[in-house]
Amino acid sequence: MSKNNTNKNAKPFLKWAGGKKQVKNCIGDILSKKIKGKRIDNYFEPFLGGGAVFFHLLEEKYKFNNVYLGDINKELILTWKVVQGKPYDLISILEDFSEKYKKKSPECQKKFYYDTRDDFNDSLDGFNYDKLSDEQILRASQMIFLNKTCFNGLYRVNLSGAFNVPMGKYKNPLICDDKNILKVHEALNGVKIYCQDYSKFLDLIDRNSFVYLDPPYLPIKKNSFTNYDSSGFGVKEQIELSKFCESIDKKGARFILSNSDPKNYDSNCNFFKDHYGILDLKVCNHKKIMVRRSINSKGNKRGPINELLIYNF
Ligand SMILES: C[S@@+](CC[C@H](N)C(=O)[O-])C[C@H]1O[C@@H](n2cnc3c(N)ncnc32)[C@H](O)[C@@H]1O
Repeated sequence: MSKNNTNKNAKPFLKWAGGKKQVKNCIGDILSKKIKGKRIDNYFEPFLGGGAVFFHLLEEKYKFNNVYLGDINKELILTWKVVQGKPYDLISILEDFSEKYKKKSPECQKKFYYDTRDDFNDSLDGFNYDKLSDEQILRASQMIFLNKTCFNGLYRVNLSGAFNVPMGKYKNPLICDDKNILKVHEALNGVKIYCQDYSKFLDLIDRNSFVYLDPPYLPIKKNSFTNYDSSGFGVKEQIELSKFCESIDKKGARFILSNSDPKNYDSNCNFFKDHYGILDLKVCNHKKIMVRRSINSKGNKRGPINELLIYNF
């Protein structure tokens, strides 16, 4: 990735649960103190989602030699790949979606939303995610349309993998942000994008790597929002992730991991101290920051909540 192809004005093109809008400045602060000249040889973001931190670092004018982005969600990664490889075809379909949607009465918009959701789910069986065909561009357009018009921009699927989020309430959703799609396309020049489990990045990570990890949060309460896709990410997976961090620490790579602070709900819970703590990973520093989480749709349950940034440098 040369400095000419990093567009510092690009921003996330999807709303994504856990988007790091609020903590990205803290992450930027930690990095700016430790990384000289804003140069990162190999940047890894294996729990990519909407990529808020990647875009923030571009905005802050970080320069990367190699960028590796990944996520296990195949619809999400398909959409990133289509933005990277076929932005003009994508924009043309999104413009069409936008025009059709905006011409309709609220009742017909609702029908249009649910028809699109049905089309999206009907083509799920046997869908080929591997090469950028017309079907894939259409699917990425449907994904963006649904993301911009569904309830809270959530991505949630049922046990069969079908997207089941109801329509949201928006007066004038921006379905086709063509300017941003083109900026993201430019920013993704030379970037390697993978649909895979985070652990598969281990072989590529070396001492010149910086890894930002933003997994689904530790499930702290019953019914908390932790299942980003049908595979789930529970306590067992969090412990495996702590071992992954230990392995990349041993390789000499730098990392920052975001997670929820279980002490928000249980002041006796020492999960992160036990698994990342200073005992296992001698160089780990813990940092507690306050952010507002807004994923909870019930206004009265919104409020300040501590999040953790755990990093090893
Ligand atoms: C908290 S979100 C990341 C949000 C992101 N930082 C952003 O700015 O939008 C967690 C992401 O991890 C992904 N994920 C869950 N399990 C995973 C796994 N085993 N390997 C890789 N990605 C995974 C989910 O699909 C989801 O996109």
